Amino acid sequence: MEALLAIETSCDETAVAVLSPEGILSEEVYSQSEHARFGGVVPELAARDHQRRLPSMVHSVLSKAGLNAKDLVEIAYTHGPGLAGCLLVGHHYALGLSLASDAPLRGIHHLEGHVMSVLIGTDYATWFDAYQALCPALVLVVSGGHTILLAVREGAYTYLGETADDAVGEVFDKIARLMGLPYPGGAKLSAHARQGRPVYPLPRPMIQTRDASMSFSGLKTAAAQLYHQLGLDGQPWGQAHCDFAASVESALVDTLMHKITQCADAHELHTVAVCGGVAANQLLRERILRWCAATGRQAWLPHPLYCGDNASMIGVAAWIRRATGMPVADAAIRLRARLLWEG
Ligand code: KG4
Ligand code: ZN
Repeated sequence: MEALLAIETSCDETAVAVLSPEGILSEEVYSQSEHARFGGVVPELAARDHQRRLPSMVHSVLSKAGLNAKDLVEIAYTHGPGLAGCLLVGHHYALGLSLASDAPLRGIHHLEGHVMSVLIGTDYATWFDAYQALCPALVLVVSGGHTILLAVREGAYTYLGETADDAVGEVFDKIARLMGLPYPGGAKLSAHARQGRPVYPLPRPMIQTRDASMSFSGLKTAAAQLYHQLGLDGQPWGQAHCDFAASVESALVDTLMHKITQCADAHELHTVAVCGGVAANQLLRERILRWCAATGRQAWLPHPLYCGDNASMIGVAAWIRRATGMPVADAAIRLRARLLWEG
């Protein structure tokens, strides 16, 4: 049986997985928690932790899969975008293992991995069958670093648009931090939002534009101002905090829904997928499912376990690239995403 090893170290998750063309043979994800006390990821600490953990994690997934490095047909790793030191650790480890085992290396774009996460857990015989069923699709990648809309067709990506400034996950995290919630606060803010009602007015930025361009920094600033105006700063947690959280979440999700519906119509795409850390957001998932059901569209959402960073999604992307003969990351997805992330 053919198998490949996948390595993901772009940010604060060390993740490794072994996959066949049909499924995941073994996988591990370690989420670094030491960044919480700094209120954000400290790149140097993250890179050093990847370096510490990667060898034993790779050993562990290979032995759980009953394989050794010589059995691998390929080693896939995240080549970017991400934190430079963290990516270097993953790349060099993969390179060393490739030299030692003769398994060829394949760099995978992190966002392409997120796109492919929607194929995990579906009941198609192979990853490629699932990919063919997905395409063509409108895909929103919504994470801590990116908010980007793509049209995904077999063998190609078309860039439609992205945020000009903050990513949606970043807004969730920054507002959560303002409210005193530990990093990364997106899921915690959302949990509080479920106890509240979206009673406070906040803008839905750029919904009047008929394209996929987005911007979230104005909404973030408006939310921060509202928080202070409401006098919630330093107050004991109460209903108003939950209502505020619900108002922020609702403004973000409304704006995303607006962009998704507009793009799906404009590009006549009847399959819609959402992926990346924020795809775990309950309200966003409910809204997508409801809208797809109402308009006869198909929704593809990753299992919540595969919304965040993981190596299986990198492995799936590698299998799809092998199957379609796509050589390296597609320029449309690579160039645009790198511009924002790497500055
Ligand atoms: O894709 P990801 O794991 O890492 C990046 O590549 O950025 O995404 C992490 C982001 C964080 O901003 C986190 O707060 C956010 O996803 N997130 C959520 C939820 N779960 C994770 N945001 C809103 N609601 C959630 N349930
Ligand atoms: Zn990610």
